[in-house]
Amino acid sequence: MTVKIIAQIAGDGIGPEVIRQGRKAADAATAKTGTDLEWRTFPWGASHYLSTGEVLPDDAVDRLSECDSIYLGAIGDPKVKPGILERGILLTLRFGFDMYVNLRPARAFPKVPVPIAGADGHSIDMLVVRENTEDLYMGLGATGDGSIDEAIEAERGLYDLTGSVKLETGHRMAMQMGIATEPAIRRITATACRFARGRGDDSILLATKANAMPQLYGFWEEIAADEAKAQGIPMETMNVDAMCYHAVRSPWDFGTVLCPNLFGDIVSDLFAGITGGLGVAAGGNLGDGLGMFEPIHGSAPDIAGTDRANPLAAILSAGLMLDSLGEHRAAKTIDRAVETFLSENDGDDLPREMGGQVGTEAVGDRVAEIIERIGEETP
Ligand code: NAD
Ligand code: IPM
Ligand code: MN
Repeated sequence: MTVKIIAQIAGDGIGPEVIRQGRKAADAATAKTGTDLEWRTFPWGASHYLSTGEVLPDDAVDRLSECDSIYLGAIGDPKVKPGILERGILLTLRFGFDMYVNLRPARAFPKVPVPIAGADGHSIDMLVVRENTEDLYMGLGATGDGSIDEAIEAERGLYDLTGSVKLETGHRMAMQMGIATEPAIRRITATACRFARGRGDDSILLATKANAMPQLYGFWEEIAADEAKAQGIPMETMNVDAMCYHAVRSPWDFGTVLCPNLFGDIVSDLFAGITGGLGVAAGGNLGDGLGMFEPIHGSAPDIAGTDRANPLAAILSAGLMLDSLGEHRAAKTIDRAVETFLSENDGDDLPREMGGQVGTEAVGDRVAEIIERIGEETP
């Protein structure tokens, strides 16, 4: 019997509600494959922070390093100032383990209502490959509460702003730096090419904003184009604003989309909206070591505790996790079970997010039953 240790960080809001269903699916899918999942639960998130003052303990990375993977719900709570937990937990783990790939597949499942005119008969199957360690997410910035001088002072020595910003004194101001390095662009572009090839896409599309921010995104385009060429995959480029426009009009034209961190965050929520909802949008953070798997949605405080959360994104994320752990058969079973659940049901039998009547726990139960039913057949 193989044992895989999974660090479970259920987090806040609907996080624990959907993680419970994903865990059920993962246990059911591995039950017959000779692998035992050992779940280690970590309490980090809003209630832990509010009751102890601790965001992440100093030994968090060491403790997680003993595990084979991290399975995360969502982090963030209206009672805590935005950024404290999101940066303090989620981004700290993504950066701390150098998980440089954020993989966000977006596909329209059978019978799931899609809010796009003319979608009937088209297959919508997109993949956002989001750079996950740089861009405006690096945390390099400052807010000058007194004056602009204070903020500039905070950054002086790191960057020479003279000439690129028209500075006036006497105003409050804030700044945030976007960073891109050649090795980071190369490794994410190479990854996008590899996934594109695996999916059978004949090219990748890079979405940036080189027209407005040529220093940062012109550099991105130049390095990514060179890397894609080296990988033997044609790369097209599009401004991300125009890409969003085209994506809502003809999403079936899109395949593998490579994005810098911030645009990838935004585009992946858009793609989720196009393909059936955040509740079905799975994600994985991958690097050369430990990976972390999480639905792309947040803690959804507006629906937490109401049995409205769609757990399919968390369930599919568990599938991505098992795949990364080499548990390909179990991963495939989860994927097929979600597809089966959605193709066997419509109307009231869909999750509430999709206009049906089925609550969080019941969706999880039905998917687990299907996994038990089809688990034997999956090759
Ligand atoms: P959100 O993704 O939590 O919610 C956006 C909308 O989508 C809400 O109306 C919500 O009800 C709905 N929704 C989300 N997931 C759903 C699901 N599974 N089923 C049905 N409906 C769902 O985004 P937000 O409101 O901007 O953020 C709420 C909190 O979550 C914030 O604190 C934010 O920082 C945090 N957040 C965390 C993560 C993460 O941990 N990975 C991701 C995004 C946002
Ligand atoms: C996501 C989230 C996070 C991000 C936030 C909570 C920091 O929106 O995982 O998509 O921006 O990456
Ligand atoms: Mn997001």
